[in-house]
Amino acid sequence: MENEKARRQNLDNLKKNFMFEGLKSISNPLLKWYDENRRRLPWRDKPTPYRVWVSEIMLQQTRVEAVKPYFERFMERLPDIQALADVDEETLLKLWEGLGYYNRVRNLQRAARQIVEEYDGVMPADHSKLMGLTGIGSYTAGAIASIAFQIPKPAVDGNVLRVLSRLRCDDRLISDQKVKQAVEAELEAAMPLDRPGDFNQAMMELGALVCLPNGAPKCEGCPLKALCLAHERGQETDYPKKEVKKARTVEEKTILIVRDADRLALRKRPAKGLLAGMYEFPSLPGHRTAEEVLEYLGENGLRVLRITDLPESKHIFTHREWLMTAFLILVDELEPGLPENDIANWIYVAPEETKEAYPIPSAFSAYSRVFLSV
Ligand code: ADE
Ligand code: SF4
Repeated sequence: MENEKARRQNLDNLKKNFMFEGLKSISNPLLKWYDENRRRLPWRDKPTPYRVWVSEIMLQQTRVEAVKPYFERFMERLPDIQALADVDEETLLKLWEGLGYYNRVRNLQRAARQIVEEYDGVMPADHSKLMGLTGIGSYTAGAIASIAFQIPKPAVDGNVLRVLSRLRCDDRLISDQKVKQAVEAELEAAMPLDRPGDFNQAMMELGALVCLPNGAPKCEGCPLKALCLAHERGQETDYPKKEVKKARTVEEKTILIVRDADRLALRKRPAKGLLAGMYEFPSLPGHRTAEEVLEYLGENGLRVLRITDLPESKHIFTHREWLMTAFLILVDELEPGLPENDIANWIYVAPEETKEAYPIPSAFSAYSRVFLSV
């Protein structure tokens, strides 16, 4: 009981901490951990703006281990921004071969040429000027600004969003750009002014080595364990929240494929909504028995000669699912329904006309040929 009370108290304190102090409390333990556990990576020695930039672009879709040899070779062949701006496309693509996503390197060269033209070949030490360069978004601009220029701007990628989501049991969807922007502002307010680059890299490093995705965080070795709300609640794997797919509405229908010797009954769907304005087979809501269908058709003045049960079928739309049963029905003559009749809006067409003039939506594809064989 005492334990439970202490646990609640601790949870309360953690929540209050984030509420009133924002993310300030993570900086010290995080940096201490980073100093002791950081990986030696080629771009971390000599973090010039150019080296940071190229490495961050390479790392955008490729793992650290895979990037290393590419990075070294790229730097040897193209040691500075001017060399990147001048190199011929063939050599450039060759240097990138195997990394994939070649637009990344094309944009890299475009930006290098922009830097040569607009900034005398010197990478601007300014977050918004960096953002103005081709292929550089808020993450890359933040990484270059903080790691190469010690400008306190955050570099928020998926790793960072995941860590912070767990840390605060944050229910917001990290795929939402507005959430990313909010997190950027929260981090910016909490960054240590003396070590912004290390702080950002420590966040990334924590996401890459400890607070792993897919429900596999190694909390025991985490420097933020004592601050982490998800860990305290045992809810690490519940965060980040995933978009819940709205459940589809399941709609049961009985499809009526009604023919006489030479025509087929169709009706037009409403002008708005699902399959707007398209022609379809008439149908009744729910799954009806043959008797119920016969009664319905009789009430509407049709004389049925034969009724055949057809296989069930299913069609899945984005937000809706049709579970269909169906009957193929031969009547002696399709006559226009009386205005007060349920079937007043049916139209009668030659079966061949469903090929062009009255195409039947693919939701009915299970039945789109059966009426040809009456
Ligand atoms: N992933 C992308 N950039 C990184 C960096 N600078 N350090 C560690 N992992 C990264
Ligand atoms: Fe992630 Fe676990 Fe650390 Fe929380 S304690 S930040 S869930 S690794």
